[in-house]
Amino acid sequence: MARSLVVAMPGAETFRASADAYDRLVGRYGTQLASALIGFAGVKPRMCTVDVGCGPGALTAALAGRLGTANVAAADPSEPFVEASRARLPGVEVVVAAAEALPFADGTFDAALSQLVVNFMRDAETGVREMARVTRPGGVVASCVWDYAGEMTLLRAFWDAAREVDPERGAAADEGVVMRWCAEGELAELWRAAGLRSVRFGPLVVSATYADFQDLWSPFPTGVAPSGAFCKSLDEDHRAALHDAYRRHLGVDDAPFELTARAWAVAGIVRR
Ligand SMILES: C[S@@+](CC[C@H](N)C(=O)[O-])C[C@H]1O[C@@H](n2cnc3c(N)ncnc32)[C@H](O)[C@@H]1O
Repeated sequence: MARSLVVAMPGAETFRASADAYDRLVGRYGTQLASALIGFAGVKPRMCTVDVGCGPGALTAALAGRLGTANVAAADPSEPFVEASRARLPGVEVVVAAAEALPFADGTFDAALSQLVVNFMRDAETGVREMARVTRPGGVVASCVWDYAGEMTLLRAFWDAAREVDPERGAAADEGVVMRWCAEGELAELWRAAGLRSVRFGPLVVSATYADFQDLWSPFPTGVAPSGAFCKSLDEDHRAALHDAYRRHLGVDDAPFELTARAWAVAGIVRR
């Protein structure tokens, strides 16, 4: 692998935010993506699972709906998101913890999943090795990340507009450039480096609907997620310019519309 595995990832701190703002930004895609990831991972009835980097709980809820709350645990370093998950999913054990140091014994789970998290880990190889450690031999470790550089339309158009409005800072913050493990095939490389076997990789495509452009725009100025943090950091004139450029890049107006988003998924088996 050309680059070091241990890097300071941008933006993890931007998730110490309100669950409501998150839900209105990328959270809109969460339920559909969770179903797709659960299918890709091959989660079966009666499996015991953990959602690593659970956020406000989209994947946790999907797992609990299929397996029952007693068969699902979750972890996230963001206290507001852990509180939101606990409130939304009583009966699920939700802990404040990062992937790199999971507070679970070896082989506790049949499957460890994470949705849109690997690129925010401080040390992704350690995080994935931890997911494998808490999963029994023969169990599955699976994740997905956005295709930021390509077909995650919401964020691709955002960063294209950001680069137009503030070329230097927009280019430096563009998640399509700065996020690791998000180019096609990179996750599979990470899974193999973490010692997983029978690694599978593929696309998951989901969609979200919006009442109008304002419905899409409203969470960005709150500062949630790296895109929101960039938006919030702009002065009023640049934020207004970003608003207009973003709408133009998306080609939408005051009518309802739908956007599609592609994520890359990976799954591998823990060695016996
Ligand atoms: C884009 S959100 C995804 C949340 C949720 N999985 C979902 O699908 O909606 C990224 C999440 O990763 C969490 N996170 C950041 N660094 C992490 C780490 N080192 N280990 C585990 N989770 C982390 C953030 O707190 C945030 O909840």
